Amino acid sequence: HQLHAAELERTFIAIKPDGVQRGLIAEIVSRFERKGFKLVAIKIVVPSKEFAQKHYHDLKERPFFNGLCDFLSSGPVVAMVWEGEGVIKYGRKLIGATDPQKSEPGTIRGDLAVVVDRNIIHGSDAPKTAKDEIALWFSHGELVSYTSNAEKWMY
Ligand code: TYD
Repeated sequence: HQLHAAELERTFIAIKPDGVQRGLIAEIVSRFERKGFKLVAIKIVVPSKEFAQKHYHDLKERPFFNGLCDFLSSGPVVAMVWEGEGVIKYGRKLIGATDPQKSEPGTIRGDLAVVVDRNIIHGSDAPKTAKDEIALWFSHGELVSYTSNAEKWMY
């Protein structure tokens, strides 16, 4: 059908410090890329603890919040924005359940992680959080808009 890049949905995906240290950047990027999603922003950063607290503000009442924020700020994180039809929901599907013990084989966490507090990847869970997280991690100028040649064979 008719393709207008501006209409495509976007989500925020981050490879957490454990995924980076374990050498899983290419593996994870590859899964989103092969599916047909389009990378429109990427950078590697060490978030401050304050920044991690902002990112996870919805979880501030949870007992694991402090450890989670310490962990996210403990080393380099690969922050990305991926674009494509249904990318928010399907991105979560590629990632798998929060607890890798419950993630299906074939998912990123199911195949590559073992415990919940070292589950290697983050993905926005809804349109509102995707919008907020993209705005928190990226400035407008860091996002690109383009049409890839493959898209005409996908949509
Ligand atoms: P959450 O937003 O519930 O899951 P998801 O990352 O799948 O959206 O939780 C955020 C992160 O918090 C999760 O990826 C890992 C960590 N976490 C724990 O360390 N312990 C827990 O019991 C839970 C539920 C999450």
